[in-house]
Amino acid sequence: MKIRFRFIPLLALAILALLFAMWAGLLRLGWRIPSIPNLALAHGPLMVSGFLGVLIPLERAVAIRKKWMYASPIAAGVGWVSLLFAPTAGAILMTFGSVVALLILLVMVRREPVVHTITMAIGVLSWMIGNILWTLGFPIAQLVHWWIGFFILTIGGERLELSRVLRPTRQQTRIFSGLVVALLGGAILAMFNDNGGARLSGAATLALALWFLKNDLAARNIHHPNPLTRYIAYCLFLGFIWLGIGGALQLIFGAGYAGPIYDAMLHTIFVGFVISMIFGHSPIIFPAILGVPINYYPSFYIHFALLHASLLLRVAADLTNQVELRRVGGLLNEVAIVLFLAMTVYSVVKHK
Ligand code: HEM
Repeated sequence: MKIRFRFIPLLALAILALLFAMWAGLLRLGWRIPSIPNLALAHGPLMVSGFLGVLIPLERAVAIRKKWMYASPIAAGVGWVSLLFAPTAGAILMTFGSVVALLILLVMVRREPVVHTITMAIGVLSWMIGNILWTLGFPIAQLVHWWIGFFILTIGGERLELSRVLRPTRQQTRIFSGLVVALLGGAILAMFNDNGGARLSGAATLALALWFLKNDLAARNIHHPNPLTRYIAYCLFLGFIWLGIGGALQLIFGAGYAGPIYDAMLHTIFVGFVISMIFGHSPIIFPAILGVPINYYPSFYIHFALLHASLLLRVAADLTNQVELRRVGGLLNEVAIVLFLAMTVYSVVKHK
């Protein structure tokens, strides 16, 4: 198989956003390192709409092969670069990227109107609403439930698609749909009553994590004879556990605005769930975009173990208010991500 070089610039733009976002993350943790204007405040949007807002629509556009669809990752990519120099223009471009991403999902729903495509479409709608509110100047702490919904429903929809063999019963599908409504209800409520909204969103997140732990293939595949399937299952399983912990923290503490509890509530989900899912899905995502398979190496467990151990350290430090340990935990989260990137590149190049 040959590498599809034409998608490398957009993939590189997504990875570059991740690197800038991690730089900004270190600044937000209090590491004294050089900075550029607007960078620290851009951390959340760079991660959500710069990195994943390019990567996720790019994967869809490559799969469906309609030229107009590339407008989504291109706008989000140009948007995150603009954000560092002209924040308003950057926010508008990234929001435009999410509008086009919603159109892509609507095409998918029209072709195949089933639970998983509808779930992913609601996920992108959630991202778009979050982006519009952010462009209008709402504080991130208030709208972040929309961005969380983007990830839970995009990844959740993808899991529903991939584990179709399990075929949730009608009753389980009804429960799932009710929880999605509750999740969105929480994001809406947070616009008027931040504590009530965060608690509703947290309860729905916790229940969705339990739903996936019960119904997803992940828990069963932990004992699978194929080592890659087993590795993916561990990533998914721990991802759902972190999602549940994030939901429980929101349920217990209510709304956060800044500081250690806010950090724990967000990153149990953003790092524990989202990044772990990326580790697990990378053998599917990257080959889909680049056209080459990713070989499995037992050393994948190094970045996997480091990510989860360092997040445990970070969250424990957050909950006990130990600033230094939190700083180290956050830094090690990033080391795990950089190791993962290096391992993925090695796997692709080695194959070639
Ligand atoms: C990988 C290592 C990461 C580090 C070191 C990091 C660090 C931070 C820090 C220190 C904060 C501020 C928390 C506070 O107020 O005390 C923050 C906020 C935030 N992070 Fe991260 N983060 C990381 C990963 C991620 C990821 C993967 C995402 C999304 C996918 C993300 C999205 C956000 C968002 C949306 C906020 C809120 C921003 C705001 O309120 O302005 N972070 N992060």
